[in-house]
Amino acid sequence: MTSKCSKTVLAVAAAAMAAMAPAQAETVHVATSGTSLVLDATEGQPLKFVYYGDRLGAADLAAVAGEGAWTTDAYPVYGMTAHRETAMSVTHPDGNMTLDMGVTGVRESVGEDGSRTVTVAMTDKHYPFDIEVNYRTYADADVIETWAEAVNRGKGTVQLREYASAFLPIRRSDVHLTSLYGTWANEGRVEERPLQHGMTVIKNKDGARNSHTAHAEVMFSLDGPADEQHGRTIGAALCYSGNYRLRIDTGDSDIHEFYAGINEDNSTYNLKKGERFATPPLALTYSSEGKGGVSRNFHSWGRNHRLAHGTELRKILLNSWEGVYFDINEEGMAQMMADIAGMGGELFVMDDGWFGTKYPRNNDSTSLGDWTVDTRKLPSGIAGLCATAKKNGIRFGIWIEPEMVNSQSELYEAHPEYIIKPTNREPVMGRGGTQMVLDMANPKVQDLVFHVVDTLMTKYPEIDYIKWDSNAPVMNHGSQYLSADNQSHLLVDYHRGFAKTLDRIRAKYPDVTIQACASGGGRANWGVLPWFDEFWVSDNTDAVQRVYMQWGTSHFFPAVAMASHISAAPNHQTQRVIPLKFRTDVAMSGRLGMEIQPKNMTDEEKEQCRKAIAEYKTVRPVVQQGDLYRLLSPYDGKGAASLMYVAPDKSEAVFFWWRLDNDVNPQLPRVTMAGLDPEASYTVQELNRIDVKPLPVEGKSYTGRYLMSNGLEMPEQHDVEWHKKNDYSSRVLRLVKK
Ligand code: DGJ
Repeated sequence: MTSKCSKTVLAVAAAAMAAMAPAQAETVHVATSGTSLVLDATEGQPLKFVYYGDRLGAADLAAVAGEGAWTTDAYPVYGMTAHRETAMSVTHPDGNMTLDMGVTGVRESVGEDGSRTVTVAMTDKHYPFDIEVNYRTYADADVIETWAEAVNRGKGTVQLREYASAFLPIRRSDVHLTSLYGTWANEGRVEERPLQHGMTVIKNKDGARNSHTAHAEVMFSLDGPADEQHGRTIGAALCYSGNYRLRIDTGDSDIHEFYAGINEDNSTYNLKKGERFATPPLALTYSSEGKGGVSRNFHSWGRNHRLAHGTELRKILLNSWEGVYFDINEEGMAQMMADIAGMGGELFVMDDGWFGTKYPRNNDSTSLGDWTVDTRKLPSGIAGLCATAKKNGIRFGIWIEPEMVNSQSELYEAHPEYIIKPTNREPVMGRGGTQMVLDMANPKVQDLVFHVVDTLMTKYPEIDYIKWDSNAPVMNHGSQYLSADNQSHLLVDYHRGFAKTLDRIRAKYPDVTIQACASGGGRANWGVLPWFDEFWVSDNTDAVQRVYMQWGTSHFFPAVAMASHISAAPNHQTQRVIPLKFRTDVAMSGRLGMEIQPKNMTDEEKEQCRKAIAEYKTVRPVVQQGDLYRLLSPYDGKGAASLMYVAPDKSEAVFFWWRLDNDVNPQLPRVTMAGLDPEASYTVQELNRIDVKPLPVEGKSYTGRYLMSNGLEMPEQHDVEWHKKNDYSSRVLRLVKK
């Protein structure tokens, strides 16, 4: 992975760490600025969990360490004691199915990025088999990344049957779980439920993408129903790009047992002599400021330590997909480039349809794999397009889907052995009836995928942005590369190959912006974000549905990573006719872009977008780098939704308000703001204004205290000429400290 999340070189440090409780060398204190995780690592005993929550001072830490209250294994293993779920279970070469682990040491290491990793090593009391449990922290983030590594020091092969990244016990009270669910074109929906007896399992089995349906991120509200601003809340995000399994088991004990890791179904792993298996990290955070606090912790950790170029602002772009679909040609691309440049945009992205020599890519049934430009459509090639972009003063980006192939392609004709497919069976095909997944476990395929990017970037170094798509799940379980006895490695090795390839790409091309797209929001996960700058939230660009999807996605991901585009009316997915003002106001709450044919827009609409883009530029740093406060949830059915971003120094904020129904006299709630400096005075400016008269609040100044205790009145409708009236209403307010 990139340096941001590179595996730190573990250096053996003194047994007692700086942050440990003074008296008890076996107590491990993993601390962030606001939180503490306390473990008991007594030699010869299994590692024990003691505490996770608000940061403890020395006195509490010493007291907690000696408390002798309930403890539970910090990484439960199968076999000897547990009538419970477990994090790891194995079969030793002699058939023994148990583990019996004891701590052998604790060490600390410092990564190149300044992160600190505490590693607790355990070994089996009989077998040459180790488990290391790791906790990584950063000086400026209230997030602890934890993961486990299994090491086979013996002579034979150990079968890993279960290999969770982490376990967290959550003390019973009135605990509510918040998670995301969805499907293609309706991703990232929020669901909340009280944890009751039984097992809650959140999982994915797509193989290649993992967030169309449920997500690998959850929150636990410890003090009753989830609240945005208040209440102790734990957040957990599995940083993995493949199949995952989150389990919450509520049985006969005093805790909810939370396990998170790779989904081991059909993925038993044969750990060879001398081999080490590292699980992906689980990012844990805790806040007493409710779900909002947890989201802000994830966002700032993500921007600073996990997301590619997370602290940089994103360009405003036009993507060609919904504008022309497969109808790519030089004239059309030039017109779109001139149009987006004219509206103040900074980047043009040519989507699907530009490639294929023997088989032209005119629809989704051919050509994936043949990444050569179709000069019948683009006689001047990519070089010509880059030159046109330059002439227009914007940058150029391009779409690829390098992990995939169509049966009608030169690549498949030459290398049928590259696809995922079991022996003795014809492959089942996906999108277009012809799409198959390349076997990323195969180093030759990894090389091929690397060269798709490398060739484009070498030939056309002007390419500034890559949209990396992935439109098929792994079907046809079988690797033509892996040996017969390692077929169960396929789903894990696919993602290892993917990671290796992306590492290689990023080492050579650290600056290019890369979007993770996977039939929309299939790759909204922290697993891919070390290499990717952002993700496409959904193939559904309907602004109303986007309010719900982006709301959910924002629980775990910052706005800078959420691509959010203004598209046409009627919307291509829902056919809903939404006015440009509302579409713009929703798109501006994320990483703003456009996904439309500008040729079909009126001059007035183009002017409206030009103004919106100019105004977005004034608030872009606050939206993309600020702290998010979700104020009024669309899921609460109150007729409106609202959120705001506040600059970290509280000098500025942007307030978004969208009306979601059109009843007469709806009695909408007044939205109180959050996150402002109560003592400061903020001047209000409405952005994207369409009303004939300014709002009564325009240009006035209010204290942060007033705005947070009272809020501002949002008129239910827009004050526009009669023929411009419609059934939508929305507001964007910029607040600047006087
Ligand atoms: C699926 C993506 O989600 C769309 O945005 C578009 O890039 C198409 N693939 C192209 O085939």
